[in-house]
Amino acid sequence: MKKILFVTSEAHPLIKTGGLADVCGSLPKALADLSHDIKLIIPNYQALKTDASVRYLCSIRIDNRNINILETRLPDSPVVVWLVDYPAYYNYPGNPYVDELGEPWPNNAERFALLCKVAVEAAMNRIGQDWQPDVVHCNDWQTGLVPAFLSLEYAAPKTVFTIHNMAYQGLFPASTANLLNIPSQLWHLDGLEFHDMLSFIKGGLVYANYITTVSPTYALEIQTAEYGYGLEGLLEHRNTSLGGIINGIDMEQWDPASDVYLSEHYSAAKLNNKQLNKARLQERFGLAVDASIPLFGLIGRLVEQKGIDLIVACLPEMAKLNLQFVLLGSGDKAFEQQLQALADLYPEKIAITLGYNEGLAHLIEAGADSFLMPSRFEPCGLNQMYSQRYGTPPIVRSTGGLADTVTDSMPETIADKTASGIVFAEASPGALLEAIKRCLLLYSDPEIWQQIQQNAMAKDFSWLQSAKQYLALYDNL
Ligand code: ADP
Ligand code: GLC
Repeated sequence: MKKILFVTSEAHPLIKTGGLADVCGSLPKALADLSHDIKLIIPNYQALKTDASVRYLCSIRIDNRNINILETRLPDSPVVVWLVDYPAYYNYPGNPYVDELGEPWPNNAERFALLCKVAVEAAMNRIGQDWQPDVVHCNDWQTGLVPAFLSLEYAAPKTVFTIHNMAYQGLFPASTANLLNIPSQLWHLDGLEFHDMLSFIKGGLVYANYITTVSPTYALEIQTAEYGYGLEGLLEHRNTSLGGIINGIDMEQWDPASDVYLSEHYSAAKLNNKQLNKARLQERFGLAVDASIPLFGLIGRLVEQKGIDLIVACLPEMAKLNLQFVLLGSGDKAFEQQLQALADLYPEKIAITLGYNEGLAHLIEAGADSFLMPSRFEPCGLNQMYSQRYGTPPIVRSTGGLADTVTDSMPETIADKTASGIVFAEASPGALLEAIKRCLLLYSDPEIWQQIQQNAMAKDFSWLQSAKQYLALYDNL
């Protein structure tokens, strides 16, 4: 049995802004299911929600401050959660990273450095719990200082750093290094310094014993200038300690046969009921309730990563076709306004909901005929996997985890029953539109379309294989 300390800034269902939470909520459960002792450590944000009981665990002193640690569990699992409780840093309403206007909280460096420092104390068995992990598994820049600080400790546990997104690096002015009491041994160009800035992510990339990212294709892409954001050289240098392990999905939460957010359940054997969800979705978005009109869905952060500019550019052309399009998301104000303007212009074809809504996300996966995910880059992506499980073949751009999890529908793959979606290469509105037209053609042949749906639903996206790969990695360390 391995003891694993899992460090993260979000975990579903406690707190979620995106896929990081899905992964950090479900991978620890999969590891616990394989009989490992796993504890998760996360800030006690005001918005953090749990039905499980929360108890006071202990207090520690860090940088002359008193920090409380509370203990709870991930709902419906044996995974213990340690909450870093420091109200001056975490007790604000809303999003963990940004204020209502989308601006980063001004003290983010201090907030996440504190998470890292508490994780280091826990990792070194200095919080009075008689528990020392074998491995500390860190996720994204918010946890990057953990491997850096642990590299200075005697007999520290091994560290794994998982990159969920290279575009977010945790860069702060160099003066922040003093503010955070970064030891001088870490402050140089081969350490935490990056172009005269303090880089949290470099803490993970330089000092972790092993680096993973969330798909094999993204592991290669980030070693190139296009996807590496200036860190491709470092990643290439470390490439014998760098690998891609594809994310799994929570097969219970995302199961059309028992989804708590759906009133009409269905499965591959009873696919007809999917139509009832389509009708509900059309109704919900105020579109004509008509089973014969192909309905496309999109859920996501409205940022450039997700190819929202391609969608905006395509929508006027899409509106000329016999289809409907629904979108749920929030993000860049400019994208929100452009999408709203298009929905106002073509109310019979395009309907959007701006905001975050878990239940509606499930209904879109269930009710849409096809899911759009034209990402410019995508470390893994979860919605394309949810879509396939829901018999909603996705249209994806061939990048990162999208390339690794969706099989394009071509004559050969249709014949050998592996086709599970539509894949296109170029990040251009023209290529996206062509993929949508190809989808419409496949959709117009019910026999072929249903076969693609069946292929997609039969795929195994469970965590089991990937959790085993993480365990093999922990063992090798
Ligand atoms: P990323 O982490 O880059 O945002 P992923 O595809 O990995 O992308 O995961 C996104 C997760 O967040 C999915 O579970 C998706 O359903 C969810 N999500 C994104 N935006 C919304 C929204 N507006 N409402 C509900 N769920 C959302
Ligand atoms: C990031 C990536 C996304 C990935 C998720 C979970 O948010 O953008 O592609 O699925 O992390 O690993």
